[in-house]
Parts: sequence; structure tokens; C-alpha cells
Amino acid sequence: MGDWTTIDWEALDRLRRIFIYQKEPPNTPYWTCEKDLDSYDMTFAERIGWKWDAVLSHLKTLKWEPKANNLLDWGCGTAIASRRVLSTFPQHNWNDLTLWDHSILATQYAQKTLRNRFPELNVTIASSAIPQHWENKGGLLLISHVLNELTSSSRLELIQLAHQAQTILWVEPGTYNDSRNLIAVREELSEAFTILAPCTHQANCGLLTEENERHWCHHFAKPPTEAFTESYWTKFGQRMDIDLRHLPYSFLVLERTSDLPASTNLSRIIGAPRQYKGFTKILSCQETGVSEFELQKRDNPKLWKDLRKGKAGSRHKWEISNGRIIGNPSTSQK
Ligand SMILES: C[S@@+](CC[C@H](N)C(=O)[O-])C[C@H]1O[C@@H](n2cnc3c(N)ncnc32)[C@H](O)[C@@H]1O
Repeated sequence: MGDWTTIDWEALDRLRRIFIYQKEPPNTPYWTCEKDLDSYDMTFAERIGWKWDAVLSHLKTLKWEPKANNLLDWGCGTAIASRRVLSTFPQHNWNDLTLWDHSILATQYAQKTLRNRFPELNVTIASSAIPQHWENKGGLLLISHVLNELTSSSRLELIQLAHQAQTILWVEPGTYNDSRNLIAVREELSEAFTILAPCTHQANCGLLTEENERHWCHHFAKPPTEAFTESYWTKFGQRMDIDLRHLPYSFLVLERTSDLPASTNLSRIIGAPRQYKGFTKILSCQETGVSEFELQKRDNPKLWKDLRKGKAGSRHKWEISNGRIIGNPSTSQK
């Protein structure tokens, strides 16, 4: 592992151009050497890790625990997703972890990193996009920031693989396109799986209606304090032109289970509430669809204040009248 003084900034500039500007999936892997991966791991991947932290912390509030003992990190890169999941559930009886990436450099780097950090774990590199052992037993599938790099045939393969999983944890950037792509995946897999999050229901995605065409399903993670206090993160933000305070992501958690989450009539806030003088507009998703609701400060000053400070959590049981949140909504859940 390198340290911040060894970062190859030019490699990061090149990767950034690929991530942001390349419209077509790259034909060949873009990792050229271990230093690329090291530099990525300390920066972009760490930032992705903050999104995983938000998702995993949300799953903990849902009292979700891993069921499978084996993991498959598909499109693993440096395997930040695996590391975050393993560290969040250290007591779980993990047996083995399989890595797949079309870059052998990436899988080797990920394997080395994981073996150093989790020496008890059996970490292997898959020899194909749909590992044979997976076809028979499935497991916990991790997918992170990969969808927009796939050709249509790789995407098909990934969906085929996903169909074998017991549980899928999938995190993507919070852009319009990435979210819309993930919604398409949700609709393809929803018959075979129970949707645990972000949806609070199993109905069709409410963002697919014509009137919601301009919206997308995204959420905001909270970066750790070091993102604002450490000079290297300042340098990273400035050089990559990334506002580190802003950490949007999209995610999907699916599980093959017959236990439906208890029907709660909960809504989830999509994106960030928009604050105006004396009222807030909230895009809210629930079983009946996605709608914009208004909260007048005078109707619930505490909730209004919590929303403004980002402390209100994302899941709520609203009481609605004529598009307005009224009364005293029950305590929010993260
Ligand atoms: C932006 S990186 C994300 C890496 C890692 N999942 C993360 O969250 O940090 C995308 C990864 O997907 C891999 N990838 C792209 N196309 C792929 C394909 N068709 N099959 C497997 N891996 C692919 C790339 O090599 C790269 O490692």
C-alpha cells in the first residue's frame, strides 16, 4: 500500500477523464500498473467507501444481517466494497470471497489487499464473469460503480449472475443516468427478489411515470471529518474538481427471501429536501408512487428544523392532506 505522498496525480487525472467524460464503455481495462490502483484506492475508492458506509449503516438500522457466508465482488477494482462489508460485519462467519474484474491487475491487487487485511478469509480470483461455483450456490453479490462501464453483453451477463445471488448489495454514483440504469436493474430483478432498500415497498418504481421523468433516485452520504480537515483531501478535491461535501449515490438491496419486510406504509425522501422561507418541498417515494409534498414550518417546526440540518433521517410515516405534510409525523428512521 502506498501513502498520500506517493499518489500518481497524473494517473488520477486520466482515470477521472475516463469516469466522467467517456461516453462508451472502455474497450480494454484502464488499469495500467499497481500504482494506478494504489492511487485510486487512496482517493476515489475511499470516497466510494463513504457511500458504502452510508448504505451499510442504513442496513444496520433495518436490522439486516448477512445470510450467505460467501461473497462475490464483481467489477471489484481494489475491492473497497468487500472491505467495507467485511469490516461492518466482522462477527459474521465469512468463508470465502471471490473477485471478478476484467482487469487481472485489479483482481490481483484486490486479492493482495484483502489477504493482508483479512488473513483468515479464502480470497480467490474467478476465472470467468459467471464463476461456476456461484451458479450452484449463489451468495452475497457486491457491485459498485460498474454499471456505466458495461457493454450490453457484459450487462446481460451481470444480470444473469445476479439472478443466482441470495442477496445483492449494489451501489452506484448518484447521477441521473446511473440512477436510471439502476432502476432498470431493479425492475428486471424485482420478481425474483424482495427489495429491501431503498424502496419501502415492492410496487413498481414510482419514478418510471411520465410526470416523474425528470427525477432520479439518489441519496446523500456524509463524508467523514477528515475529508474537511486533512490537506490531502483538499488537494484531491481541488485537483479533481470534486466538491467533497457533496456525496450523492444510488443503491439497491435485494434479497431472495419470502419474508417480506413488515408493511410499514413508510415513505422515503429522495434526494435532498428543498428549503424555502417557511416551507420545505420533499420528493417522497412510497408504495402509491413518487410525489412532491410540502411541509410548512408552522405545521411541524421540529421536523422542519431537522430536515434543514440534515438530521431528519430518510424514512418517515407522513400524515398527508392535500399534498401537505400535516400533524405530527412519527419519528423518522434513518
Ligand atoms: C469505477 S471502477 C469501480 C471499482 C470498484 N467496484 C469500486 O467501487 O471502487 C469499475 C471497475 O469495473 C471494472 N470493469 C469494467 N468493465 C468490466 C467488465 N465488463 N467486467 C468486469 N469488470 C469490469 C473495471 O476494470 C474497474 O475495476
